[in-house]
Amino acid sequence: MEHQEPAKKKRRRPRRRPHVQKPRPLSGNIVLCGFMGCGKSSVGRRVAKLLERQFCDLDSYIEQQAGMTVAEIFAKEGEAGFRARETQAAEEVAAQKGMVIASGGGTVLSPRNVEAFHKHGAHILFLDVPVAALQERLKNDKRRPLLQVPDRRKVIAELYEKRVPLYRAAADITVDGGAPAVVVAKRVAALFQ
Ligand code: S3P
Repeated sequence: MEHQEPAKKKRRRPRRRPHVQKPRPLSGNIVLCGFMGCGKSSVGRRVAKLLERQFCDLDSYIEQQAGMTVAEIFAKEGEAGFRARETQAAEEVAAQKGMVIASGGGTVLSPRNVEAFHKHGAHILFLDVPVAALQERLKNDKRRPLLQVPDRRKVIAELYEKRVPLYRAAADITVDGGAPAVVVAKRVAALFQ
């Protein structure tokens, strides 16, 4: 009888146990914050597509709930009225899951709004765009109540200086937003893939 080699034992790959799989790097809502004109909505919409998530623009949400535009709310109820609606909206949207949320330029200046997002595990990203680029992007704006002033460039510069430290403080991550929205959206999406 011919000598037969004993059958080689097949090496089994260790089975993957689902409960020890690496968690997704970041889960929870993604909230984009930053100055007016930094691209929160245009970037956010694209990020939502890339990550197959739902998109919510907080200003549009407020407008829908109020049945008025942001400009109309400012005119009728003043900035204080708008901020109260914004907090209500932030709390409602923050409680939803798996969203990409474009906040308004003033949303994360209120610690209560930041808390509402963080309480539900959101990741807040600051889209960092240099002030000169914002001044350029906003020079013809007719929609934003805070910018309907004679010396717009100066108002932008002053607001920017006050707000940037607050955006940084509220955010978990700062993303360079000084590029076309498609490029910035890819940068953002890459953090969550
Ligand atoms: C505001 C920014 C606006 C809007 C409102 C107030 C602000 O949103 O919420 O006019 O205080 O910076 P955008 O940043 O989307 O323009």
